[in-house]
Amino acid sequence: MHEPLPDGGMIRKLWINETDAYRDHLLRLDPESRNRRFSGAVSDEFIAWHSDSAGGLGVIVHGFFVDGTLRGAAELRSHGSVFAREGEAAFSIEQPWQSHGVGTVLLERTLLSARNRAIKSLQMHCLAENQRMQQLARKFEADLKFDFGSVVGEVDPPRYTPLSLMREAAADAHGVATAILDVQSRLFNPV
Ligand SMILES: CC(C)(COP(=O)(O)OP(=O)(O)OC[C@H]1O[C@@H](n2cnc3c(N)ncnc32)[C@H](O)[C@@H]1OP(=O)(O)O)[C@@H](O)C(=O)NCCC(=O)NCCS
Repeated sequence: MHEPLPDGGMIRKLWINETDAYRDHLLRLDPESRNRRFSGAVSDEFIAWHSDSAGGLGVIVHGFFVDGTLRGAAELRSHGSVFAREGEAAFSIEQPWQSHGVGTVLLERTLLSARNRAIKSLQMHCLAENQRMQQLARKFEADLKFDFGSVVGEVDPPRYTPLSLMREAAADAHGVATAILDVQSRLFNPV
């Protein structure tokens, strides 16, 4: 996978005990980004409840980390049971890291995870004026059916294959290895 990320940035899945980091990231969003992420105004309490629920089964969050801090996230939620064929995806990137290609890599990873879980229909709620998200969705128009007249996009990921499963496993292994190296380098080179 080609990952042209901003300097010092890495993407990996969040671990089950990282819901606090997810909450702190969502709380750091500027008001406009928060509004776009949740398609409307939400309170800090709602964000705390929402991020807590991201530790559950059927939720996969890919995180974008800079120097160990979560600065962006892509959340994939299955609707209903773990084996549900429908899901929902939502993206959040803190303002200084927007428009640097992070959303593109996060959407690519999310589509791969959706495909490997046989999710056939993936919804993304997007405000009609959200040009950046629409431009991002257009880059994946082979996999995405997006009606910008409404606020909901639908994805039909193709079926998983041994290769698509291997790609996700390789990305996961790479994410764990990079996280370990990142912690070590910050331990031995404190700022
Ligand atoms: C929407 C969001 C996920 C996009 O991620 P991003 O990292 O900023 O986007 P990228 O840098 O990958 O750019 C995606 C495309 O949008 C285009 N783009 C970048 N900035 C733009 C802008 N201000 N207006 C319109 N298009 C823009 C880019 O040109 C790029 O397309 P290209 O590669 O063909 O040039 C991110 O900006 C974000 O989190 N915004 C706040 C929350 C939100 O809107 N969430 C979406 C609803 S779930």
